Amino acid sequence: MLESFIRKNFSRLLTKEKEIALENRIPSFEDLSGRFQDIDELGIYLHIPFCEQICPYCPYNKEIYNPDVAIRYTNAVKKEIDCYADVIGKRPITSFYIGGGTPTTMLHSGIEDIIDHLSNTFNMQCEIHIESHPNHLSMDNLDKIVSMGVKHLSLGVEALQDRHLRTLKRQYTTEEVKAIVKRVISKNFKCVNVDFIFALPDQTYTEVEQAGRALVELGVDQIAAYPLFRFPYTKMGSDAKENTSIISTIFKRRKMLAILEDIFYDAGFERTSVWAFTRQGVPKYCSVTVPLYTGLGASGGSYLKDIFSLNTFNVAQYINAIEREKVPIALSLDLSENMQMAGWLYWRIYETKFMKSDFKERFGKDFDSVYGKYMKLLSFLGFLKDDGNQIVLTDKGTYWLHGFEDLFSIDYISKLWGTSGQDPWPKKIVLQK
Ligand SMILES: C[S@@+](CC[C@H](N)C(=O)[O-])C[C@H]1O[C@@H](n2cnc3c(N)ncnc32)[C@H](O)[C@@H]1O
Ligand code: SF4
Repeated sequence: MLESFIRKNFSRLLTKEKEIALENRIPSFEDLSGRFQDIDELGIYLHIPFCEQICPYCPYNKEIYNPDVAIRYTNAVKKEIDCYADVIGKRPITSFYIGGGTPTTMLHSGIEDIIDHLSNTFNMQCEIHIESHPNHLSMDNLDKIVSMGVKHLSLGVEALQDRHLRTLKRQYTTEEVKAIVKRVISKNFKCVNVDFIFALPDQTYTEVEQAGRALVELGVDQIAAYPLFRFPYTKMGSDAKENTSIISTIFKRRKMLAILEDIFYDAGFERTSVWAFTRQGVPKYCSVTVPLYTGLGASGGSYLKDIFSLNTFNVAQYINAIEREKVPIALSLDLSENMQMAGWLYWRIYETKFMKSDFKERFGKDFDSVYGKYMKLLSFLGFLKDDGNQIVLTDKGTYWLHGFEDLFSIDYISKLWGTSGQDPWPKKIVLQK
């Protein structure tokens, strides 16, 4: 109750909107073409919605891998790329991220074909970031990944104690995954990221400390350490026996994160986003790095200044729509200037530092005249440091501000992804009213 009260009032304060809802208003490619006009550079996100197993905690859009579906999916994505060819033209694509699901399920059934097609169609000026599953990283598969030009690789290690790996239903042991990471590192990627989940059921502080030290010993470039989020539409979310209120679990997570922060900082890592710690001097691994992007594939989301749109989540419906030359977008939301500014601030807080001049460049407005009074209060509370142009969140601020953002994002993701996972073409999804 308290959480929804905060959400409602804060959202109104920042966006000045009574209701925020995505609707099945499907823009045509001609309409989209207008939306691209004053965009100079763009990112591309490609979603691969397949996994060999469905993990009980995972909120992402995915289904069990089937090689025949993967071939049809490859052709559909290539056709979707063709639809954007004229619209995007020769604008530089400065960030390319392949996420999932598990992109490496398609290592031998189309992913290379899609990458080649993108390179032949767009002005790709960036390196490839890709997510993978540890069980796909044999020496042969790693060679294939390297030969596709991938320079930045991420894998979900998730835990480094067998009992927690079992809880998460991961199909490898601690020793096995350590050997896999060693193999990955031998391939000299520019950045190897491992995902790790803490605040697992019954996990002790000592276990978090042991795992933190073991993560550092792996020799990876980056560690993304997330607390376990319980999305109501996942198995672990619906089974949750303990109190799942974000406010009540936030203190335990804070202490665990503080343990990890100490270990990572001591080992020469620096914080590069709320949950990510990167070895100094290494380019950080992260999803699309430019503010505006086009999403391809089932559940691919696009953000183009004044519109956010989302493709249908349903793989069969996505393929059908493309094969029948229909736009696969299921939902869109026109973004007012206040919504765009609030979204901008949300992501900059997530990244933990930002320049006020970037806000001015993007919106033509002075940052302090819009958000100055809030920044003063946060600075007074010790949540951030403001040197006049750059704002840098402190460790304390990073945690509490993100805890606050979680109040919105977990709820919005649950509504948006939860509903879209059930209904391929929802009429309307209300995020806030
Ligand atoms: C797309 S998956 C990673 C790649 C690959 N599919 C795998 O499982 O190894 C994205 C990552 O998000 C994180 N994640 C997924 N569900 C989560 C949850 N409920 N709470 C916290 N982190 C979660 C996990 O660390 C997971 O590795
Ligand atoms: S955690 Fe990875 S493998 Fe498991 S369901 Fe999610 S995307 Fe698939």
